[in-house]
Amino acid sequence: TTARFTLDAAFTVGDVNPRLFGSFVEHLGRCVYTGIYEPGHPSADAEGLRTDVLDLVRELGVTAIRYPGGNFVSGYRWEDSVGPVEERPRRLDVAWRSTETNRFGLSEYIAFLKKIGPGAEPMMAVNLGTRGVAEALQLQEYANHPAGTALSDLRIAHGDKEPFGIRLWCLGNEMDGPWQTGHKTAEEYGRLAAETARAMRQIDPGVELVACGSSGQGMPTFADWEATVLTETYDLVDYISLHAYYEPLDGDVDSFLASAVDMESFIENVVATCDHVGAKLKSKKKIDLSFDEWNVWYQSRTDAEVGALDWPEAPRLLEDSYSVTDAVVFGSLLIALLRHADRVTVACLAQLVNVIAPIMTEPGGPAWRQTTFFPFAQAARYGRGQVLDVRVDSPTYETKKYGQADLLHATAVRGEDGTVTVFAVNRSRTEPLPLEVTLAGPDLTRVVEHSALADADPDARNTLADPERVAPHAVTGTTLTGGTLTATLEPLSWNVIRLA
Ligand code: AHR
Repeated sequence: TTARFTLDAAFTVGDVNPRLFGSFVEHLGRCVYTGIYEPGHPSADAEGLRTDVLDLVRELGVTAIRYPGGNFVSGYRWEDSVGPVEERPRRLDVAWRSTETNRFGLSEYIAFLKKIGPGAEPMMAVNLGTRGVAEALQLQEYANHPAGTALSDLRIAHGDKEPFGIRLWCLGNEMDGPWQTGHKTAEEYGRLAAETARAMRQIDPGVELVACGSSGQGMPTFADWEATVLTETYDLVDYISLHAYYEPLDGDVDSFLASAVDMESFIENVVATCDHVGAKLKSKKKIDLSFDEWNVWYQSRTDAEVGALDWPEAPRLLEDSYSVTDAVVFGSLLIALLRHADRVTVACLAQLVNVIAPIMTEPGGPAWRQTTFFPFAQAARYGRGQVLDVRVDSPTYETKKYGQADLLHATAVRGEDGTVTVFAVNRSRTEPLPLEVTLAGPDLTRVVEHSALADADPDARNTLADPERVAPHAVTGTTLTGGTLTATLEPLSWNVIRLA
């Protein structure tokens, strides 16, 4: 049977904030060292940044880049990461049982963002695991104060005359997780986040602050954590964070394909919790959502990997290789974010290079695009504008985790020029899905492009040996006549249909 929906330009969800296409660089494994930064690599520039990676990062279209962690930030001493490189200390990174050399630090991160180009923006996390208000203020003064104080002058002495102008700050990372160095209860964290936020606003009332929400909807403290933290911080922060990773467990691919069902319910439950606290406080303010870690991650393999480490520098860690199936789920997660663009105004794909990443590199060797690179790059390029309210009428299939799930997962974005892009996933592993879209509002007459990511082998992937095995292909036969779009979505496929 056919899946259907209606597009009407009058019915919108909200504007897409460019920050929805953020990513994440953590000092973890080879994300930084031999990922974005590798002095001596044939493509490295004078600062040691890999220009082959920079080119791919630009092509990917990422915006806000969260840094320096992740779990790493709960041991982060910002002052170790600035000043002359040869004087920077080597430290134990207890989160990842690795040795941190600090050769890449704050100034190098800002230089990396500048080289990406005008769309890239810093999103800096402060350490609220093993540090507190004072160190957050010191970092903010070093980074953002123009000149004339000890720390701002120190930045200038280190060679950065211009302040970094960091607007967006994360108040710690995953503080609800028992694995977090300096893990806290919701009450403890809520107070610390509130006091840190208040102090940071004393330096600059214009900073935008993200309080830590839950590390996942499955956390035992989920929702109570958000309610408690927001009760302390409601007037002081702008965002609450969400993190979610998905993988097929016990070989249950059908549930894995419907992972976005969980992601959408997570978003809706956090919105409900934020608004509940707002209602109790009789506040007119709305808290936005920063989905600042999301991805497919074969996490069940990671614990043993980390436990076996004996403090190496930049080990191979979390280097998941992504199949076509993974990319289809990944595309569906992007659709989930777009469908909630009214409240999810920041999102960060975790992570950017080598570590559960769309871009892979080999030390001294090439860089290449994983399968997940393509849905992200297409969404970041064509998913700009206003999200239209898409309510699908779709055939369903049975999943163990979510019961009946729609075979079609879709959204649509209307650009400023009036063109519309439909993003759609067919979750069926075996059957093509006929799609019919009625265009009630937008005055569109032709299909510019129908691109699909699908493969006869759903396990196909791009590797060092075969880096261009998988890429999107053009689909023929998609038509737009008399206000009706007709397409066929291949089994297990991610689709981008552009209409003008
Ligand atoms: O992205 C990998 C890790 O996942 C991050 O360090 C942490 O915040 C999360 O648990």
